[in-house]
Amino acid sequence: MRLSDVAAIDAERFRRVMGNYPTGVAIVTTMTADNPIGMVVGSFTSVSLDPPLVAFLPDKSSSTYRRMGTPQRFVVNVLSSEHEALCRQFASKAVTDKWSGVPWRPSRSGAPILEAAVAWVECSLHTVYDGGDHDIVLGRVVSLDTGSPAMPLLFFQGGYGRFSPLSLMAPAEGDLLKHVRIANIVRPTMERLAADLGVECVAQCVVNDELASIANASPPGRVLAPSRVGARLPFVPPYGSLYVAWADPAAIDRWVGKVTRSHGISRERLMESLERVRQRGWSLGLVADVHPEVDEALAELARGDDNRDTQRRLISLMQEVGDLFEPEDLDTTTSHHVRSLGAPVFGPDGAVELALKLYDFPDALTYQQVMTYQARLVEAARDASDLVAGALGKAAVLSTPKVVMEPSRKEQSHHGRHERGHASPG
Ligand SMILES: Cc1cc2nc3c(=O)[nH]c(=O)nc-3n(C[C@H](O)[C@H](O)[C@H](O)COP(=O)(O)O)c2cc1C
Repeated sequence: MRLSDVAAIDAERFRRVMGNYPTGVAIVTTMTADNPIGMVVGSFTSVSLDPPLVAFLPDKSSSTYRRMGTPQRFVVNVLSSEHEALCRQFASKAVTDKWSGVPWRPSRSGAPILEAAVAWVECSLHTVYDGGDHDIVLGRVVSLDTGSPAMPLLFFQGGYGRFSPLSLMAPAEGDLLKHVRIANIVRPTMERLAADLGVECVAQCVVNDELASIANASPPGRVLAPSRVGARLPFVPPYGSLYVAWADPAAIDRWVGKVTRSHGISRERLMESLERVRQRGWSLGLVADVHPEVDEALAELARGDDNRDTQRRLISLMQEVGDLFEPEDLDTTTSHHVRSLGAPVFGPDGAVELALKLYDFPDALTYQQVMTYQARLVEAARDASDLVAGALGKAAVLSTPKVVMEPSRKEQSHHGRHERGHASPG
């Protein structure tokens, strides 16, 4: 690269490209006279073990940094994904009292340790290096500890997110073959179901943090174009409830944590929907106004137009489906527009290996029709679980859940709207 190329790099491009590197988010705190002061940084890094050194890179023009002076003692507080609002409060130029309602305690040197921190590192100033328009502040670690056991807050491409370990959330690519084998075992069950009910039956599993449709069976004589096989959906609430309803609390927490309140779905609503799936033993999605747009985005992804904008658009559309996913008990007197019904296929260890999903229902179904479809589906999924347990040579540990759906005349509540905020690093 020539020097002139380097000079031509503008700030917007620099930020956009650098935004592809995700960072954690920390608040560097210190005391000035009697007041605590804190600055949000994404540039915190561990530097050396011997001696124990860490660094952060403050913007020389930041008024907060200037007010900190050159802090002789400071604490780096690593934020949890639960504390996006706290981060916004500290990063905002508009908020005057940043410490309002923020619980903290003094470290040995007096610099604030935030109760919200997942980890904190207390430092004495080691060296300040020049780093262009930023300083490179090296701190010598004098004490450190972990705090609340939560996932850290992440910052990526101008937005906040959280970490979900692939090893727990999604099987490695190799496990796709295991799921394809399982789908093959249950194929006769799927074909019978599709023929008897006259709807499409799809086997879906979780691969690499996506919901992947890996096999389908359609009613005899019906050609489905395009096929749902190969379609991938982000494994993001409200989608994928069947895979987490019977999972351990940590997996549930990670799934729920993928959407924050800023997406219009509250944690409570998601926990309720999971409880409904567990109680019913099956999953229900009703048709939403946004489904044509959802299908368009899915088709784009299936064609390989695999860009992040489409994925982001899809995720925000999915949030708009809201309460139409795992709705409360259906009205027994009106007709229902069903998008999908799903039931879990358990492996021998009691984990959900596959979901059997039904699609392409007639336009309006009576309550009784919905109940008939779901009863047949749950029965087929139970047979499939037995087949899988038998084929894998072990007895099924978990009995399939009982089917409960009390009819009621309750109205469906309205779904929340999606909104998203952005902040950009300094
Ligand atoms: C996620 C995130 C990461 C940030 N990282 C840094 C950083 O590493 N260095 C820095 O100087 N400012 C960083 N900022 C910006 C500052 O926290 C703060 O918003 C900015 O300095 C405000 O300007 P002021 O100090 O002049 O009020 C970051 C902001 C956010 C939201």
